[in-house]
Amino acid sequence: MEREQQLGRRAILGAAALGAGAVALGGAGTAAAAEASAPASGKGHGLPVPTVIGHRGASGYRPEHTLGSYQLALDLGADIIEQDLVPTKDGHLVCRHENDITATTDVAAHPEFADRKTTKTVDGTALTGWFTEDFTLAELKTLRAKERIPGTRQRNTLYDGRWEVPTFEEVLQWAEREGRKRGRRIWLYVETKHPTYFRKLGLGLEERLVKLLRAYGRHRKDSPTFLQSFEPSSIQRLRKLVATPAVVLLSTANSRPWDFVEAGDPRTVADLVKPEGLEWIAGYADGIGPDLSLIIPRDSSGRLTTPTPLVKDAHAAGLVLHPYTMRNENSFLPADFRRGTDATAYGDAFGAFKRYFETGIDGIFSDNPDTALLAREDFRKNR
Ligand code: G3P
Ligand code: CA
Repeated sequence: MEREQQLGRRAILGAAALGAGAVALGGAGTAAAAEASAPASGKGHGLPVPTVIGHRGASGYRPEHTLGSYQLALDLGADIIEQDLVPTKDGHLVCRHENDITATTDVAAHPEFADRKTTKTVDGTALTGWFTEDFTLAELKTLRAKERIPGTRQRNTLYDGRWEVPTFEEVLQWAEREGRKRGRRIWLYVETKHPTYFRKLGLGLEERLVKLLRAYGRHRKDSPTFLQSFEPSSIQRLRKLVATPAVVLLSTANSRPWDFVEAGDPRTVADLVKPEGLEWIAGYADGIGPDLSLIIPRDSSGRLTTPTPLVKDAHAAGLVLHPYTMRNENSFLPADFRRGTDATAYGDAFGAFKRYFETGIDGIFSDNPDTALLAREDFRKNR
């Protein structure tokens, strides 16, 4: 399993801590809070459905979270482009899937940063590498992005070293430029990564993000933006400050959001996908971003089984569903859609998209947005 897959699937904060957070933020803007308290209508975002979300840009074809990856996703026609956010030492938000930048930048090749290599525990997992919170933005800007999984995506290594680590503000500026060119606003899907961990370091993500959302007019209910987090408390904190549509990410059934772990909240994701859990989420968010296994579980051989009631139950609670992540390579596909024995070769991604679309999901994250768009075309034609 990729390190990012191991790390990213933990979660959240408990009721006690949520209550404390609400008190702490209580005076922070009652008008925004009142506007934010009513989630945007479930399917009223004006996006094509199923919506295609370019996961980390077009990360099937370019090193993830680079302006090159975002540009390609947009050019391919993705409806929304995703960013994951972590902070620098001096408090700038940058686009990386995790704060450990060992696998996605050339930091290891910079002798001047050799002594920054360290071991930290992030959300309960010990990691050794280089971390964004130990670098100023100016230092981080001397690095270059590279392909995370070169063994699977050798062709993407052609672009290693081409792009910097972008700040979120640079992405907002890029989206403004592209929006002017195209005569429409560009949708972004913005995730706070490890928010409890960073708050403890004095690098809270939400206030920094809110400042940028306000500066670029993405703080309203009708903004072309979804906010997302695996930690519900991060979404609750954000929704007290802005009315931007928001989604709670849900990892595998037996996992617990990291803020729940820290607060001693015993609930697991399996609890949150029950009708009462979904009602609780619907009290402050517009949707859920579930792991695909919560939509259609796989059997012991990795084949898709029968869909769960999650789509029906989430829709009944007024929530949209944007599950993650579809990738074209055999190694990521359900076993019944793999073709041949080469793990890096493409399998029958169209067949897998069809199975997921048939469940009634509202959108999907994909590393290959062009494939997802064609699959949507097929799905709509044959409906
Ligand atoms: O945010 C949706 C999806 O990206 C969640 O998984 O770990 O790739 O951020 P991850
Ligand atoms: Ca993400």
